[in-house]
Amino acid sequence: MDQLKKGFGRVEENEYQIARRRTYLKIDLDILSRNVSILNSLCSSNTEILAVVKGNAYGHGSVEIAKHLVDIGVKHFAVASPGEGIDLRKAGIDSYIQIFGNACEEEIPDLIEYDLVPTVGSVEFLREWALYSQNLCPEYLFEENYEFHRPVVIKVDTGMSRNGFQPEQLDDVVSYCDENGVRIHSIMTHFAAAWDDQAFTTLQLESFLNVAAKYRSRGIKLHAANSAGTLLGYGNDLDFVRPGIAMYGLPPDTTAFAIDMYNRLGLRPILSWMAKPNLVKTMSEGRTVGYDNTHRCEEGEIIATISVGYADGYNRLLSGKGIITTENGAECPVIGRVSMDAISVRLPYHEDKCSNFYIFKNDFTSPNSVVELAKQLHTITYDVVTSLAARLARVYAVKGSIYLTRT
Ligand SMILES: Cc1ncc(COP(=O)(O)O)c(C=O)c1O
Repeated sequence: MDQLKKGFGRVEENEYQIARRRTYLKIDLDILSRNVSILNSLCSSNTEILAVVKGNAYGHGSVEIAKHLVDIGVKHFAVASPGEGIDLRKAGIDSYIQIFGNACEEEIPDLIEYDLVPTVGSVEFLREWALYSQNLCPEYLFEENYEFHRPVVIKVDTGMSRNGFQPEQLDDVVSYCDENGVRIHSIMTHFAAAWDDQAFTTLQLESFLNVAAKYRSRGIKLHAANSAGTLLGYGNDLDFVRPGIAMYGLPPDTTAFAIDMYNRLGLRPILSWMAKPNLVKTMSEGRTVGYDNTHRCEEGEIIATISVGYADGYNRLLSGKGIITTENGAECPVIGRVSMDAISVRLPYHEDKCSNFYIFKNDFTSPNSVVELAKQLHTITYDVVTSLAARLARVYAVKGSIYLTRT
């Protein structure tokens, strides 16, 4: 990893130089701080954020996002696999890190070595975990109140039908943990449709609290809310909320209702994707552009080549359909096929090839905003940002300075 702190003078030039490529992702950590404080303000005063930074922090770069969140006081993190957790540990994050999904027995040595908290949904895992921990610490085994110091999270499946124990199993699971010295950090559930289905979410929360609430008095924490739950008030009075997409300033869906809410609350996207062309040329009539000759030029069309392609996460379905914008908002259509490493765009006038373009704009309404792209691609915002490739340099802006990481 190559890191360089810079002031804002001649910033764009430096960013491209450091990125070693005429494109980079710009991530505004000050907006991230504001998004987190807005989410906090929607919760009860004792509710803490368990920040979801899986999928490389939804494409934003998990290490730098987590480091910044630590700086602003976030103490709990979640990722999807032990490998993602180990990446954070190796980068020096020593906070609580939970691994989502049903924990598997073969993950136990890594979970213990790197102090990662498993999410448990099977008796088989619990049995192995108890045996492993007892083997690790046999001298304490017969002490009264022995409890293995590495905790677990017990997941209750209240309707998602993917991970976790069934609600009616919870009492037996907790008793098993008590009898085998397994410490329970928290009990959680996950909403299937918190944004769209009020009745179902209410049932999920009720079914969770019916079986789990009584354990709160023992100091076991409870959590249920993802971004949608946090925004709409399901479970935002429990011990943690687990926002992912909303921290990054993106809505769970692309409806006007979601955009209105984000504007009202002040949540904003933290990511823009910048690029500048590596060639601009004026075309003669009849010249074709790109693979398969799908675009035929008119006389005088001004075409810029930008080194961004589907290997970067610019979806190939945007061939002949995508739009990128100049710094002053002029729209430039993507013409011809999106290649692996390049797109061609038509410019409205002869831009100097050093101008900056937005591949993704950090608002909700531009045709190249993540929200509009998700609509165009018939998908969700999560899909658009988690597709951003590791090879893209990520440049972080915070309090008037920038720094860059290459992964
Ligand atoms: C268990 C769990 N909690 C929270 C989240 C965060 O969801 P969102 O990004 O919608 O806030 C996820 C993401 O899928 C998840 O799997």
